[in-house]
This record gives sequence, C-alpha cells and structure tokens, in this order.
Amino acid sequence: MERLNPKNYKKIVFFTGAGMSAESGISTFRGKGGIWSKYNWEEYASQSAFDKEPEKVLIFHENRRKELLESSPNKGHYIIAEIEEKYKNSMVITQNIDGMHQKAGSENVIELHGSAWRLRCPVHGIIEDIGAFYKRYKCEKCGNWLRPDIIWFGDRLDGSVVMEAVINIETCDLFISIGTSSIVYPAAGFPRIAKEKGTKCIEINPEKTALSHIYDIVIRKYATEGLKDIFSI
Ligand code: OAD
Repeated sequence: MERLNPKNYKKIVFFTGAGMSAESGISTFRGKGGIWSKYNWEEYASQSAFDKEPEKVLIFHENRRKELLESSPNKGHYIIAEIEEKYKNSMVITQNIDGMHQKAGSENVIELHGSAWRLRCPVHGIIEDIGAFYKRYKCEKCGNWLRPDIIWFGDRLDGSVVMEAVINIETCDLFISIGTSSIVYPAAGFPRIAKEKGTKCIEINPEKTALSHIYDIVIRKYATEGLKDIFSI
C-alpha cells in the first residue's frame, strides 16, 4: 500500500488489543496459547469468582502481572509513541491493561479495561499501586480485599471513559485497529462508529476478525510490520 504521512491527518486513533503486545511476549486471550484457552474465565475474571475465592483469583492476576513485569514494549508500541511525540495528532484507545503504551512513551492513552497497575477497594476506591508490590491484598484502612482495577466479565465499563473514547473516535480522520479479535463489547463496537463517520479505517491483524469486512484496508501482518507498512516515518 501507499505509505501514509501522519501529518496529513487531523486526528489518528490507534485502537489496540492484546495482539499489540504479543510481540512483547505477553499472552493474548483467544486463539492458540491464549489465556482463555488455558483458564476458565468464570473462575478467574469475574466479581462472583473473586467473592467466592479471592486468594485464588488474586494469585492468577499476580502471575499475569509477573509476566508483565518481565516484559517490555515492542517496536510497534514505540512507533505509535513516536507518532504522538512528533505530530501531536494521535492517541491510543486500548483494551490492554499492561501499560505498555505508556511505558513506550505514549501519553494520550485511554484504558478501556482498566490497568493491572492499580488496585481497588470496594469502600475506599482506587489505590495507585506500585508495580512490584502487589501482595498487599487487603485494604489497610478497612480490611476489605483489594481487587485489580480492571474490567472483569460482567463488570460495567466506566461510562466517562467510554464517552471520552467515543468522542475521540467520532472526531478522528484515521482509525487504525491493531491486534484485537473484535468480539468483546462495547469495545468491539468502536470500529463501526469510525466507519459510520466515513473515517478511513485500517485493520492490522495476522488473522481475519469478526469485523475485518468493514475496514477500508486490511493488513494481515503482526503489529510492528503492519505499522511500518502504513507509515513513512
Ligand atoms: P484477543 O485475545 O481476543 O485477540 C487478540 C488478537 O490479536 C487476535 O485477533 C490475533 O489474531 C491478534 N494477534 C495475535 N498476535 C498479533 C500480533 N503480533 N500483531 C497483531 N495482532 C496479533 O484479544 P482482545 O481482542 O484484546 O477483556 O480481547 C478483548 C478483551 O477480551 C480483552 O481486553 C480482555 C479479554 O477477555 C478483559 O479483560 C475485560
């Protein structure tokens, strides 16, 4: 394809999923080797599972976080951060909780599904957590179990976060989806919002997804190679 120059766009939205971090060695959720092919999400990623067996659920998430602590952003994360830094016209809307975009230098990041680097107390709200110290499982003030501040199955997304994402998608003129299977809603509905506004939509994914047919351009490559194909930076 003909390379795009970021400076020709008013606003570029990078919409990312687990495949964005696959080249960092972080597991995706679905497909071969995906987390939900090894673990039953009902036992590890729902409030009811947490209410039943908090320690079991927290150990699962603690192990995931160890994986993240041992991982680094990949070239794709850096390309996205570089575009933001250089052209000041792009942002990231991510389903990932790994913080890799921010680690690579992206500042304008909306985290739809929360962050593995924060905890939440049912009484005292969000607790900014320090990466390596995750073992403090109970709130120091009230003794309640702290849960990761992430979206589990059955949880509702933060309305203001969704609203901010939608406003940005409605006002962008280039929408690039990277590494998402596009089956978990409401996030999976976002590409359609861009498409319905007449925005140029590109998908980067080595596999066909539930929404591939709506994109103007589909690049069947890994995130980094796909980004290098799109931009002349
Ligand atoms: P999935 O695991 O469902 O999909 C990952 C996608 O990444 C697949 O379509 C792969 O083909 C693609 N992929 C794999 N390696 C890639 C690479 N190197 N470059 C580009 N793409 C690659 O992940 P998500 O769509 O992000 O929710 O899943 C959505 C949500 O489901 C997650 O946020 C999580 C999960 O349950 C919560 O935790 C609430």
